[in-house]
Amino acid sequence: MKIKTVGVLGCGLMGAGIAEVCAKSGHDTIVRELSESLLDKGLARIHRSLDKAVEKGKLEAEERDKALGRLTGTVALADLAGCDLVIEAIVENLEEKRKTFEALDGEVQKPAIFASNTSSLTITQLAVATQRPDRFVGLHFFNPVPVMKLVEVVRTILTSDEAYDAALVFCRTLGKEPIAARDNSGFIVNRLLVPYLLDAIRALEEGVGSVEDIDKGMQLGTGYPMGPFTLLDFVGLDTTLYIAEIMFDEYREKRFAPPPLLKQMVTAGRLGRKSGRGFYDHPGK
Ligand code: 3HC
Repeated sequence: MKIKTVGVLGCGLMGAGIAEVCAKSGHDTIVRELSESLLDKGLARIHRSLDKAVEKGKLEAEERDKALGRLTGTVALADLAGCDLVIEAIVENLEEKRKTFEALDGEVQKPAIFASNTSSLTITQLAVATQRPDRFVGLHFFNPVPVMKLVEVVRTILTSDEAYDAALVFCRTLGKEPIAARDNSGFIVNRLLVPYLLDAIRALEEGVGSVEDIDKGMQLGTGYPMGPFTLLDFVGLDTTLYIAEIMFDEYREKRFAPPPLLKQMVTAGRLGRKSGRGFYDHPGK
């Protein structure tokens, strides 16, 4: 089965990145947001990213224009009716996602595959909200989507071989490298990454080192592109807290428990880059 037209639900940081790579790689792409103002913001994000790629000489102006020609925005789920694949990248909340998939199921042609970009919920819980759990997979992208090569492709015990294979082929058409992950909360990468990030906060709470020195230690000592606090600010402290809460709820293991400092920072509105302040200041963000 060939995937030509792709729907993307949500045009925030991840949704915009996913829509951008889909359009760039030749897919007709329809991105859906909840309101016109959110849609305008999301589409502007994609335009900026493509313009930057042209400025940096990574993309021909003609390729940018072609990608933009393949991209449309909508606020109506019904406009996704003819999609071959719909990738959901909305807020990391089980009820919101289930409600959205239930509604989508009634609108989109039956053979279409549904995918979620969830970082911590299980795909099974989402798949059973639809009448097509055999055509439901996880496609977990990484931020920044245009740069990071990986997609975790997740199958549940209900996913058909045909849908899974089509999802693998699709990832390769995006120029991404897929890996197969079982449907366990956090899949492969967040199962390892989230305890590491939370442990960095615990190390800070215990006075092991400063934010700057812990970051420098991991960056220069182990070659990570970003230290844990820079990465926490980049991912968003609110997002990290949601993920940790979901994973802790699933596994009941201390390594996934959100540390008090993380909760305090989110309560205080220090969410990282997106709010202008997290473990570091981000003026002008
Ligand atoms: N969009 C497009 N391209 C971007 C970009 C963006 N948002 N941000 C950076 N880039 C490109 C730059 O243009 C540059 O390309 P070039 O080398 O061809 O000129 C390249 O990426 C490197 O960027 P910079 O030189 O500006 O900066 P860095 O060398 O510091 O790289 C980074 C930036 C790629 C973000 C790097 O720091 C990195 O890999 N950080 C770790 C990111 C990471 O771990 N992501 C995963 C987060 S976890 C996740 O997403 C899962 C979720 O479930 C939580």
